[in-house]
Amino acid sequence: MQLGTPLSNTATKVMLLGCGELGKEVIIALQRLGVEVIGVDRYENAPGHQVAHRSYVIDMTNGADLKALIEKEKPDFIIPEIEAIATDMLAEIEAEGLATVIPTARATQLTMNREGIRCLAAEELELATSKYAFAESYDELKAAINNGIGYPCIVKPVMSSSGKGQSTITSKSDIQSAWDYAIKGARVTTTRIIVEQMIHFDYEITLLTVRALNLNGDIETSYCEPIGHVQQQGDYVESWQPQKMSTTVLEKAQHMAKQVTDNLGGRGLFGVEFFIKGDDVFFSEVSPRPHDTGMVTMITQNQNEFELHARAILGLPISTYLRTPGASAVIYGGLEKKSIQFNGVEKALAIPQTDIRLFGKPESFMRRRMGVCLCYDDSTDNARINAKRAAALVTTE
Ligand SMILES: Nc1ncnc2c1ncn2[C@@H]1O[C@H](COP(=O)(O)OP(=O)(O)OP(=O)(O)O)[C@@H](O)[C@H]1O
Ligand SMILES: [Mg+2]
Repeated sequence: MQLGTPLSNTATKVMLLGCGELGKEVIIALQRLGVEVIGVDRYENAPGHQVAHRSYVIDMTNGADLKALIEKEKPDFIIPEIEAIATDMLAEIEAEGLATVIPTARATQLTMNREGIRCLAAEELELATSKYAFAESYDELKAAINNGIGYPCIVKPVMSSSGKGQSTITSKSDIQSAWDYAIKGARVTTTRIIVEQMIHFDYEITLLTVRALNLNGDIETSYCEPIGHVQQQGDYVESWQPQKMSTTVLEKAQHMAKQVTDNLGGRGLFGVEFFIKGDDVFFSEVSPRPHDTGMVTMITQNQNEFELHARAILGLPISTYLRTPGASAVIYGGLEKKSIQFNGVEKALAIPQTDIRLFGKPESFMRRRMGVCLCYDDSTDNARINAKRAAALVTTE
């Protein structure tokens, strides 16, 4: 592997499609290796734009615009950070050999739609998942529930993320509102939803799984210690690492993660989500990129999930070594306003063994993630308490 000099004709060039807080950290990791980074997002001054060499604002769901920009910039690697991208165009770009799509164009196609990845996991790979069905109308949804999904169940648009459009149905009277909410919350105009049986899990984990080259030049799969997390309204509020679990259950999850990531292929880090109930492991979904719950690795691992992604992409060796237990807690905007100010950061950082990231998003919404507090300790229980204390000390105005 050869790395060049940024802003010269030898540069190793990477284009990030999506420049949120996760993309921003990937960019920082790449910058440290002297990679030239082009940041693309749908709005100006996105977090990653602020640390990239060059930035663009385009509608990434528009295939023609996306291709024009790729032809202009000629990146070596394209790293999707979000799902809302014209992934068919990425497949075309990959097929034409214009750039390497991370991890593969097919992986981005399958994971941008819950239907693609669920059918691959449950039907082709025969992994255990919740019972599920797809529906295109209120009547189809009702029929699916009556014909086996049962109550309680969860409805999600097939294309959405961060819990958007997701709600729980506990009885017949909730079906109409869940249907309406899903149609409103979808990322694209669609009437297709997935309804899933609710799994009453003991806990849920993200298993960060890395496909990187070993010293013989072969792809090798490595796993970070499992990350436990709490979700509210389908969005993560706190995470910790390591999640305590038996070796048998962990090995089951690792085996399932390997089957999914082997199938998706390519190089990079994946966030594989599982529900755990007793000795049973249910596959939920996978991100072919760093995961929000994995922000905890910024304080727990020698190489955090963003550095692992950057190294794996560039063909460099990786280590998933866990340095210490730790936790992360989200800081929300709490108001609808541009250019907000943060108070109490000094109080948060006065708690020993804490750290903070403020993402620099230009506009705040009530439930927009604006930052994260990180904490390490001897136990994840202590780290969780202090990460949440620190996050609560940060106020917005
Ligand atoms: N079938 C299920 N049974 C129990 N809980 C579920 C089920 N599906 C989703 N959940 C809960 O909702 C959370 C979000 O669901 P999911 O990961 O499918 O949505 P998402 O919108 O893709 O979220 P994100 O993009 O943040 O990962 C899960 O982490 C879990 O806590
Ligand atoms: Mg999820």
